[in-house]
Amino acid sequence: MSERILITGGAGFIGINLAARELAAGKSVTILDNFSRRGSDLNAAWLREAHAGSRLRVVHADVRTDLDVLQKEVDRADVVFHLAAQVAVTLSVTDPRHDFEVNALGTFNVLDAARRRPTPPIVVYASTNKVYGKMADVAIVEHGDRYAYRDLPDGVDESRPLEFYSPYGCSKGAGDQYMMDFDRIYGVPTVVFRQSCIYGTHQFGIEDQGWLAWFAICALRNDPVTIFGDGRQVRDTLFIDDLNEAYSLAVQHIDKTRGKAYNIGGGPRNTLSLLELLGMLRDEFSLPLSPASADWRPGDQLVYVSDIRRAAADFGWTPRTSPVEGVERMISWLRQNRALLDTFAAAA
Ligand SMILES: NC(=O)c1ccc[n+]([C@@H]2O[C@H](COP(=O)([O-])OP(=O)(O)OC[C@H]3O[C@@H](n4cnc5c(N)ncnc54)[C@H](O)[C@@H]3O)[C@@H](O)[C@H]2O)c1
Repeated sequence: MSERILITGGAGFIGINLAARELAAGKSVTILDNFSRRGSDLNAAWLREAHAGSRLRVVHADVRTDLDVLQKEVDRADVVFHLAAQVAVTLSVTDPRHDFEVNALGTFNVLDAARRRPTPPIVVYASTNKVYGKMADVAIVEHGDRYAYRDLPDGVDESRPLEFYSPYGCSKGAGDQYMMDFDRIYGVPTVVFRQSCIYGTHQFGIEDQGWLAWFAICALRNDPVTIFGDGRQVRDTLFIDDLNEAYSLAVQHIDKTRGKAYNIGGGPRNTLSLLELLGMLRDEFSLPLSPASADWRPGDQLVYVSDIRRAAADFGWTPRTSPVEGVERMISWLRQNRALLDTFAAAA
């Protein structure tokens, strides 16, 4: 098992949780981040304190431009988790060049550094379900407070044709395809996770991205919240610890997983619509919200549910945390870190 881990975007939500897990397992971890995401400085400060004395390094660098630093850090690593990204579809529409440079060029830069090594490191990439686009041909039905697939009981599998929709879909999709190709052409062992909706501790959700955390934060702070569309849109939700378990297993089974893409989410057993989340916050956690309504957002899928059977077959992974358990853990973290939350909100 590899020991030296590099996490680009390691001060973000997923990265900080992954770093904490790897440090707790005794590994040497470098997080490389440009700290552009609001809350990433708070995450890094927490990690330094919580894991003082462990083998943690924090490198302030940008995957777009700091090529020498990136090469040096990739050279030291056995495994690279490439998570650094511009993560919001909405912001990709308002500033597509920035989105392209961070997501497409930044990912290329990571891969280019990896291929220069005589023995390249494993590179794991956080792609997105958005690479499948609107899936306009998939029949959708309405059941009460949610939409559902009419004919896909197991969700969307990896044979689904790619359709890059929105600048974010294009830039993340370009990274996704470069990952697969650098395994084929240069022998860089890459694994692509097409992730659905991930949520959990240390997530500073904003209106543009991270809806479960955003709703919970608004509910706790009594802040206003808006639903874009009719609120019946459904996602399969995955608690952060389950995602990190999947990363770990995919690396352990690299002979089987390299050069492949995996749809990773909660799967059909862990889906939620926005309206159902509102109901859960109200009924299970006594956190009522009265959202305003606004028009649909571009590229918003009515339903997205991952078919996670390939991950189960190849590396024995299935999610363990139900939405109600995961939301409970997220809310209790938010409650315990109320001061952090207020610092985060004040910086908006
Ligand atoms: N959270 C989800 O539900 C979800 C779903 C699908 C895919 N993903 C992907 O997972 C990855 C991590 O997402 P997250 O939710 O932790 O997001 P996040 O915004 O919390 O973390 C991303 C981190 O990347 C850093 N970053 C941004 N631009 C950078 C640059 N140019 N150079 C270096 N660092 C930079 C940010 O400061 C931030 O700390 C992203 O690639 C995202 O596209 C996330």
